[in-house]
Amino acid sequence: MEYRLLGTTGLKVSRMTLGTNNFGRDVDEQTSVRVMRKAIDLGVNSVDTANVYTKRRSEEIIGKAIRGDRERFVIATKVGNDVGEGPNDSGLSRKHILWQVEESLRLLQTDHIDIYYMHSFDQESPLEETLKTFDRLVRDGKVRYVACSNFTVAEMKAAGEVSERLGLERIVALQPPYNLLNRGVEKETLGYCAAEGIGTITYSALAGGFLTGKYADGIPAPSGTRGALYPKFWGRMNRPENYAVVERFKAVARRAGIPLSQLALGWIAKNPAVTSMIVGASRPDQVEENVRQLSERPPADALAALDAIPVPPPT
Ligand SMILES: NC(=O)c1ccc[n+]([C@@H]2O[C@H](COP(=O)([O-])OP(=O)(O)OC[C@H]3O[C@@H](n4cnc5c(N)ncnc54)[C@H](OP(=O)(O)O)[C@@H]3O)[C@@H](O)[C@H]2O)c1
Repeated sequence: MEYRLLGTTGLKVSRMTLGTNNFGRDVDEQTSVRVMRKAIDLGVNSVDTANVYTKRRSEEIIGKAIRGDRERFVIATKVGNDVGEGPNDSGLSRKHILWQVEESLRLLQTDHIDIYYMHSFDQESPLEETLKTFDRLVRDGKVRYVACSNFTVAEMKAAGEVSERLGLERIVALQPPYNLLNRGVEKETLGYCAAEGIGTITYSALAGGFLTGKYADGIPAPSGTRGALYPKFWGRMNRPENYAVVERFKAVARRAGIPLSQLALGWIAKNPAVTSMIVGASRPDQVEENVRQLSERPPADALAALDAIPVPPPT
């Protein structure tokens, strides 16, 4: 496994980060722990969760899995999305963050979070309040690094200006979506992050499994897969234009004599602006396969061919 420095920090993260938003949902606790153990055995040191995943079962299961072995892992969690329906049950106010960080620490069974993300930009909370709170968490030793997810360049610039002006801990990483079917960050975000020394830990590398090629137009999703279990995901992905473009990716993979998933992961890995890519798994053998595919570099002409294939706008 290759490790990279996260932005301008001294923190080393594996090229693959384990995604866990299915832990405790369709993936039971025992299997989730086996998935984590497999990942660490293969050199993955970076694990991504959030306070809103699977009604907090994800954080809880990770807490059990890392007990006694905490420092082998770089644990990231997030705050800001809805944990309830009350007026202060979401957002990036001091009140909400300080409540949620304690819940995350308790469930993760640790006294610190390595990377703490603002899950998405909060239009209502003043950035000064949010960033001072995050800075305080670093000073108190509860958080090692401050990061953001789903921020635009303008939002990162605004946060950078506040951190600079007030001498606060700055955002060291962005977590945006990025895969063959969703290339929006290529336009300006990845370039901005590279120029500013902000690391990127990108998500949905396989578009939720769609880029493994296991789904086909007009055929029901195989049982047990996300496509079969989650109508919202299926409604988003099960579209003729997605199948059409995946067929073109498959043709490139066939010509190169490699699996589609290898091409999908290798295509992200070739981008120097990506520090680590998050990949989820519902079984240990998927982790094994994904790590193996990432270690094999697809031919350069196949990767270039993918760049030339236009993709439909993400839904
Ligand atoms: N910051 C954010 O707003 C945000 C948003 C979304 C996700 N994320 C993070 O990114 C992580 C990954 O996202 P994601 O799960 O949407 O996307 P993903 O990594 O593209 O897809 C993971 C899914 O693909 C299938 N899969 C993985 N490896 C496979 C293999 N070798 N063969 C066949 N199927 C395979 C599995 O689903 P099945 O077995 O069920 O088919 C697995 O759960 C999340 O867990 C989360 O940590 C963050």
